[in-house]
Amino acid sequence: MEKSVLTSQHLPRFRAIVGEDYVFNDLEQRQHYSHDETEDLSFLPDIVIKPRTAEEISEILKICNAEKIPVTPRGAGTGLSGGALPQLGGIVISTERMNSILKIDEDNLQVITEPGVITEELQRAVQAKGFFYPPDPNSRGSCFIGGNIAENSGGPKALKYGVVKDYVLNLEIVLPTGEILWTGANVLKNATGYNLTQLIVGSEGTLAFITKIVLKLIPYPQFNLLILAPFRSLEKASAAVGAIFKAGYTPSALELMEIDALRITDKHIGGSSVPIGDDTEAHLLIEVDGNHLETLMAEMEAINEVLTHFDCGEVYFAEDEQQKSTLWKIRRQVAEAVKQAGYTIEEDTVVPRAVLPALIRGVKKLGTAYGFHPVCYGHAGDGNLHIRIKRKGTVNSLTDPGMINGLRALFGLVHELGGTISAEHGIGLVQKAYMDIVMNTKHFELMRGIRKVFDPNNILNSGKIFDS
Ligand code: LAC
Ligand code: ZN
Repeated sequence: MEKSVLTSQHLPRFRAIVGEDYVFNDLEQRQHYSHDETEDLSFLPDIVIKPRTAEEISEILKICNAEKIPVTPRGAGTGLSGGALPQLGGIVISTERMNSILKIDEDNLQVITEPGVITEELQRAVQAKGFFYPPDPNSRGSCFIGGNIAENSGGPKALKYGVVKDYVLNLEIVLPTGEILWTGANVLKNATGYNLTQLIVGSEGTLAFITKIVLKLIPYPQFNLLILAPFRSLEKASAAVGAIFKAGYTPSALELMEIDALRITDKHIGGSSVPIGDDTEAHLLIEVDGNHLETLMAEMEAINEVLTHFDCGEVYFAEDEQQKSTLWKIRRQVAEAVKQAGYTIEEDTVVPRAVLPALIRGVKKLGTAYGFHPVCYGHAGDGNLHIRIKRKGTVNSLTDPGMINGLRALFGLVHELGGTISAEHGIGLVQKAYMDIVMNTKHFELMRGIRKVFDPNNILNSGKIFDS
């Protein structure tokens, strides 16, 4: 895709579609929409447009398609793989004004929403009716549901309840050529042709613009219990993860935090009442949930018993909502805290659960070999290890050959272990150079072919996931 061909002639045309107040070309707005949460990367768009309806987006895309203007769809800009970065310039279309929850269907346990609703607000709204929408990326207090669909996000609760794709029933989309359509039906089962809904989920804004979303809901579990378990060895902590499932338990969350992650985050949030022992290398944060408190108590006790076989120290049991919320606050703040401590590069590796200890061992070795310092944390129960990286002299992962070599080695290891390079953050801009490690020529041919059917002129989020 060529660089943008926008001129000042385009402004009145877009203003005629969305109104005078919602088309921006001033530097302040362009700078605000030039970055997301990915490293220090920043690319100025030429124009930012904030439409209100699918029809407006359709009209904008028709112009862009005819004139081959690059378009970057954007939610809240909390992404970690650069999906919302307008690296070709052109237009950023923000969904921030499309922020209504349209209907909570209490009879069918479904919610219909626009894409610009903050995920946690959606969760609260359905919880008020007794329902649960489980996918909970750690940015849920600020990210938009539309971005979650585009990236097929996960979060801690994915372990028991599944990721975003498991809840998306139907989508209203605008094609890059301007047509508006629904991808499926508001039903729980659907064997009617290719599954276009699931093709759009996780397509990172490269196939269509999502304008309405129908999600499945489930009843809200009434109780949960939470513990923080310290381990003298990081490897043993990760080995305990597999053993919990083998013993027959499925926690509602099973998160790993290496000691550096916990220490840095604890300090970042001003120090908490959580005990952190000196001879500890890692912690597991383990939650069980359900509707019968006694069953949960028995389950947690049994999980504790499993942990004793892995050299686990004294387990901290969160007594009340306050203590639970402190523990979750620490876990949810890890990425931001370690980023501020210089660990600016984020990886989102995933391997089969049983080889998690091998991955962790390998990551440490590669750090020594390639001169980077890794901090491991993440959704251990899913085999989804986030690795935050600090490397002397590395500004970002796109431009530093030393870092690029290290990441190739890291993803090579992940692939050897039977895993892949992103579990829930997407490929976007920063992971695409490594796609060849896990995909072959035929994969690329298929993906490019699909993209061409949706977007013949290659205008929508071009250059993300793979080079078009
Ligand atoms: C987390 C985000 C970074 O798990 O995915 O904290
Ligand atoms: Zn995560």
